[in-house]
Amino acid sequence: SDLDALIDALPKAELHLHLEGSLEPEQLLEFAARNKVDIPFKTLEEVRAAYEFSNLQDFLDIYYQGMSVLQTEVDFHDLTDAYLQRVAADNVRHVEVFFDPQGHTERGIPFDVPISGILKALDAAKAKYGITYRLIMCFLRHLSEEDAFKTWDQAKPWLSKIHGIGLDSSENGHPPSKFARIYAEARKAGLKLVAHAGEEGPPAYVYEALDELKIDRIDHGNRSLEDDALIARIRDAGITLTVCPLSNLSLCVVDDLKDHPLKRMLALGLKATVNSDDPAYFGGYVNQNYRETAKAVGLTHDDIITLAKNSFTGSFLSAEEQAPHL
Ligand code: ADE
Ligand code: ZN
Repeated sequence: SDLDALIDALPKAELHLHLEGSLEPEQLLEFAARNKVDIPFKTLEEVRAAYEFSNLQDFLDIYYQGMSVLQTEVDFHDLTDAYLQRVAADNVRHVEVFFDPQGHTERGIPFDVPISGILKALDAAKAKYGITYRLIMCFLRHLSEEDAFKTWDQAKPWLSKIHGIGLDSSENGHPPSKFARIYAEARKAGLKLVAHAGEEGPPAYVYEALDELKIDRIDHGNRSLEDDALIARIRDAGITLTVCPLSNLSLCVVDDLKDHPLKRMLALGLKATVNSDDPAYFGGYVNQNYRETAKAVGLTHDDIITLAKNSFTGSFLSAEEQAPHL
């Protein structure tokens, strides 16, 4: 359709992407073979059959298991490069990507291994694909504050290459306030601050992320819509939401894409963006998220233009860096 052509042609930024969530079934098998890692799947069909979820935790169990095949700097480089190559074809010009260092250090991979490999690919992206980047290090919220501080110490030599911190993993039972002191440290160090909030967790967690973590951007934020005062606050502060429609469908945050709140968010004056979250697991990269959502909720030509613009104005690029894309 005309809208699909518009979606393909528009320059876009992706602001909510977990690099480990871009591990395609083919790569999972390839990395398992080359690293001689035992996994409970032998064929692509078996891997694909496992990528079926009923909630966030269900997905996370498979996601952390998938990470076990990532062993060397080259693996992290190849994973990141494949993602960049894939989204270059979607006309993505800027990415702000997450990685989960604790998902790797927890299983004995030194902190320097993932970040070295990831940065090699990201630093080559401008010349190779015309893509600029920011790198965001996420803390796993199901782990302790102490564990987060250990990770923060390991990250210190790399802080000139880490632009922001994020918070992900199991939301319910792990409120943002648990990480207030880590966020205060990162703020002092001049990093940007984001956090997953209101994906499965209640509006109270979005308030906490704003008030106690003082975040610059909200990842997901869907359940903010349950609270009118919170909607007004996010709108008036001009805070961007990194929304992930196909993720929301896969994890049953919405039962049907037709019920997705993206169009409502725009109508309410919220700065929403469209992102893929974990594209290898949720069945689509960024343009497919735009296309399927446009069809399901009836996005207009102007809605799509707005979403693509929001992806740059909501990014951590300076105004000068955003200008050529707007
Ligand atoms: N880790 C990777 N994807 C995630 C998501 N959508 N929510 C929380 N943690 C995640
Ligand atoms: Zn996410």
